[in-house]
Amino acid sequence: MAYFASCLAIIAFAWYFHIESVSEKAHRSTIRPIFSHIPSWFLALLLGFFILRTSLYFSRANHVSFHPVDMLMYEARTRHATYVSQSASSQNLTAAVDEYRTRYQRNPPPGFRQWYDYAVNRSSLVIDDFDSIHNDLLPFWALDPVEIRRRTWEVISNPWNDIAGISIRNGKAEISPNVMPTHRWMLDGLVYLIDHFAPHLPDMDLAFNLNDECRVAVPFEDIEPMRTLGSRMGSTAQHPPLTFSSNRAAGWDPIPEEPIHDTPFIERSFQRTFTSFGSIGCPPTSPARTQNHWETSTLCTTCSSPHSLGAFLSNWTLSANICHQPDLASLHGFYLSPAAFKATHTLYPVFSQSKVFGYNDILYPSAWNYMDKVKYDPTDDYPDMSFSEKKDTLFWRGATSEGVSPGSGTWKGMTRQRFLHLANNINNTTPAQPILIPSPLPITQKTPNRKASYKYRLLSPADLASRIAAKTDVHIVDFIARCGGADCSDQAAEFAPLATPSDFQDHWSYKYLLDLDGAGFSGRFLPFLQSHSLPIKAALFREWYDSCLTPWLHFVPLDSRGHGFWATLGYFVGLKGNDLAKAHETEAEAIAEKGREWAGKVLRKEDMEVYFFRLLLEWGRLTDDKRNELGFTMET
Ligand SMILES: *[C@@H]1O[C@H](CO)[C@@H](O)[C@H](O)[C@H]1NC(C)=O
Ligand SMILES: *[C@@H]1O[C@H](CO)[C@@H](O)[C@H](O)[C@H]1NC(C)=O
Ligand SMILES: *[C@@H]1O[C@H](CO)[C@@H](O)[C@H](O)[C@H]1NC(C)=O
Ligand SMILES: *[C@@H]1O[C@H](CO)[C@@H](O)[C@H](O)[C@H]1NC(C)=O
Repeated sequence: MAYFASCLAIIAFAWYFHIESVSEKAHRSTIRPIFSHIPSWFLALLLGFFILRTSLYFSRANHVSFHPVDMLMYEARTRHATYVSQSASSQNLTAAVDEYRTRYQRNPPPGFRQWYDYAVNRSSLVIDDFDSIHNDLLPFWALDPVEIRRRTWEVISNPWNDIAGISIRNGKAEISPNVMPTHRWMLDGLVYLIDHFAPHLPDMDLAFNLNDECRVAVPFEDIEPMRTLGSRMGSTAQHPPLTFSSNRAAGWDPIPEEPIHDTPFIERSFQRTFTSFGSIGCPPTSPARTQNHWETSTLCTTCSSPHSLGAFLSNWTLSANICHQPDLASLHGFYLSPAAFKATHTLYPVFSQSKVFGYNDILYPSAWNYMDKVKYDPTDDYPDMSFSEKKDTLFWRGATSEGVSPGSGTWKGMTRQRFLHLANNINNTTPAQPILIPSPLPITQKTPNRKASYKYRLLSPADLASRIAAKTDVHIVDFIARCGGADCSDQAAEFAPLATPSDFQDHWSYKYLLDLDGAGFSGRFLPFLQSHSLPIKAALFREWYDSCLTPWLHFVPLDSRGHGFWATLGYFVGLKGNDLAKAHETEAEAIAEKGREWAGKVLRKEDMEVYFFRLLLEWGRLTDDKRNELGFTMET
């Protein structure tokens, strides 16, 4: 319990110390890392000055003259406009080829004309910006094609690896022989998806990760030179050969009837993985590699501030970068105790549905969404009414599936459990939380223009629950999953009452839909976006579409630490009994509708096909013995 309280206490205490007063403890914790190499007499001299500056800084930061969310929403519009203008600037194939060569410093792969026609025919809004494919594949250029093929064979040939093969021969996709029946639907879905464009693909084998958790974490020192090398490879010739090598099938060894027993993967299920597989993807001097943050009772402000504006998340991309966030080691199920963790430090070609920062898995659009395993499908019984007709409730249903808590209390650090605690103020044990409230400053000579102002206040969750003008309905469904020993009963008591299962379509009756990281990709985020409700998301896992969405325009982002949870919700729903802290329903509805509209344009099944088609053409080239000559240009 103490550990749990401290995980939650993080937040409030640090806010307290940083905003309302300045305690010695907070000083030690913020100053030490910065000054650790400076002689102490010098530090003593500096300290007096620094305390003053700090208290001034935070007392100033405590009053802000604009609401950060207003600014973030404003900026988001500009950022999205920039994204749109560069994602499809080319108007025809010639321009698309030029744009490709400018961006990626090599010719597009063979088959690019067919891909382009396919994308245009499916009305794809994105034609030029496939940087995520480029980044995922870049280090593989440092491996010989024959070595990529051998590694593919190696991971598919041992079923223990939890990796399944799909082979493409003569324009048809098919599943490799040794696949577990439980995952059959996923591979059937992939075959169905790939067959849309398989006639244009060369013969090859692909290795798909059957686990939710990502698999390939190559140390920074190894991967960076590979990326650099990769960025210089590929053909830039005016007249490259247009077609893949003709004898490609022979280049892929058949998957043996008898499984092999060698494996490149190390199993670390139920164990901490942050140091061994997480932070190794960061530069050697980064905080994630040089600092430990096992002490979770204070908010690590150096960890959160680079991607925050006050209590609000300001940079979604940066917030996924763990290199400045050593405290995440103890704040996520994937780093604390993943359910299925078989990973490698060597660059193996593994296609995964999601990954966290530093992993080298190749992202592809999940068959889960493509096959409508969970679907946005309102009915007469479960209509998706307009935003204003929905209930003023933040809703979440889910399982304790983020990681395994085998009996040592590990669950207390996990994202889902911490948010459940925050939302429900279980047994009145959640510490006070920051919330930003309008509080006009008196006009003085010194500050003649600071009439509009907001001030961070700390409110106990009991106060928040009664004053926030919305309900929270955030519960575990049915039973406690992935637990052992006392962690099952402890969680059952802690999170009681557990909810009974409800229809997924019931989500649309609520205005605010919470999406929290589980063991991997989010199965529900796309349906949430498609609805008239507002998705509010806390996540470290990223998926293929991450770069097309703009946080604060299409959805509301939350820091995984949770310290912005109440402040963010409070902005949209307002506070009862405070005329100034009014609701921002118009803004909430605007984000819900913009997200819905945009998802309807760029996250359709057609967009998944277009992304996957382009990815597999690139992969076809990468695995071709002639890859440094191959390419597509208009001249050939
Ligand atoms: C292709 O589009 C570009 C602008 O993107 C334009 O300048 C060029 O004339 C077009 N070419 C053809 C053949 O239509
Ligand atoms: C795509 O191609 C099909 C068949 O060739 C055609 O019927 C359809 O109109 C095309 N759609 C667009 C948007 O070009
Ligand atoms: C987020 O941070 C990254 C890296 O520092 C930066 O390149 C990017 O422009 C930032 N984005 C926003 C929205 O501030
Ligand atoms: C919280 O309350 C429940 C029921 O009132 C109790 O069973 C549980 O032990 C309490 N948890 C803590 C940590 O006090």
